Amino acid sequence: MDLDVSHPSLDDLRARARWRVPYFVWEYLDSATGDETSHHLNRVALDAIRLRPRVLNGDFTPDLGTHLMGRDYPLPFGMAPVGMSGLIWPDAERLLARVSAKASIPYCLSTVSAKTPEQVAPHIGDQGWFQLYPPRDPEVRRDMLARAEGAGFHTLILTVDVPVASRRERLRKARLSNPMRMTPRIIAQAAMRPTWALNMLSEGIPHLATLEKYVTTDANLPPTAHAGYLLRTAPDWDYVAALKDEWHGKLVLKGVLDPQDATQAVAAGVDALWVSNHGGRQFSIAPPAIEALPHIRAAVGPDYPLIFDSGVRSGSDILRAIAMGADFVMLGRGFLFGLAAFGQKGAEHVVHILREQLIADMGQLGVKTLRETRERLNTWPD
Ligand SMILES: Cc1cc2nc3c(=O)[nH]c(=O)nc-3n(C[C@H](O)[C@H](O)[C@H](O)COP(=O)(O)O)c2cc1C
Repeated sequence: MDLDVSHPSLDDLRARARWRVPYFVWEYLDSATGDETSHHLNRVALDAIRLRPRVLNGDFTPDLGTHLMGRDYPLPFGMAPVGMSGLIWPDAERLLARVSAKASIPYCLSTVSAKTPEQVAPHIGDQGWFQLYPPRDPEVRRDMLARAEGAGFHTLILTVDVPVASRRERLRKARLSNPMRMTPRIIAQAAMRPTWALNMLSEGIPHLATLEKYVTTDANLPPTAHAGYLLRTAPDWDYVAALKDEWHGKLVLKGVLDPQDATQAVAAGVDALWVSNHGGRQFSIAPPAIEALPHIRAAVGPDYPLIFDSGVRSGSDILRAIAMGADFVMLGRGFLFGLAAFGQKGAEHVVHILREQLIADMGQLGVKTLRETRERLNTWPD
């Protein structure tokens, strides 16, 4: 099958993914929180951004390369952390790591992954970023950081937009439990998706692999309650300072929407900020992340590294984010849509689609480098 003909966009991959995974998995991947307004508005706000082409530029090949935190990347996008990816598609973490290594783009491994940093490391090349949901116990934190660093992960992301658990109403109704309990309802839904189910049988039921080591069996708690307890802490600026001491690579704060927080993070010596509303999964009355982006760019100045996510579904969206002030753009659901639709080949196809769309749009805009896109934001009729 020529995927460029049958599935030329991420929306096409999303449509196929919907029918390849069980209902409870789809609800986990696709849902947001509350009435899903912030998820919806992410899309509305991105769609409203227009970029102005300039003409008569002659023949040129646009440069999609970018520089971020001391590293060169051939493409301005990467894979955001998606917890329990191994539930969405069996062995997702290793498959996505391979795609990222091949494309030389970052892969962010979540704290709540179905594979450990050690298991992912042989597949990820030099593209490993590790996402931290902050452990409560400093000893656990230090051990986790040492494991990630020892496995070759060079960039640490502290996610700061989950101070409390989100209600995720759609997910509650789907009755997905952690660890996954094989209720008749779950088994019936899985049986209707044989490719997913067979792959899952050979891979085994996914669990919180990285945390396993810290779950003490003598605790008077079920293992997941304990794993949740391990992480259930709302970090503060002192926590960021502790990470600065303990982590030797680059440190990124993910989930920043307020310019004052941004200024404080720069002063605290954080290496980059990740402007995000968690794809609408945490707070349904948060502003669309793309609307926060120019305000944060204004607060941190033109050259401070800014990463963006939330709602990105195309190369055009990546250019929109760059025009609004981002240096680098991440996708969460997008890569999982590709993976669920066609396995590793589907995730590779996401890279291909985004690259081709960027090339076409930059040609149309007449911009030779990504940075020039910042000058093409159309503000008419202002
Ligand atoms: C199923 C799912 C699980 C996620 N798990 C994590 C996680 O473990 N850590 C984290 O920092 N962000 C997590 N996120 C948020 C993503 O990193 C990212 O911010 C978000 O997906 C961006 O929006 P998009 O899906 O529209 O691209 C998750 C998102 C999804 C869809």
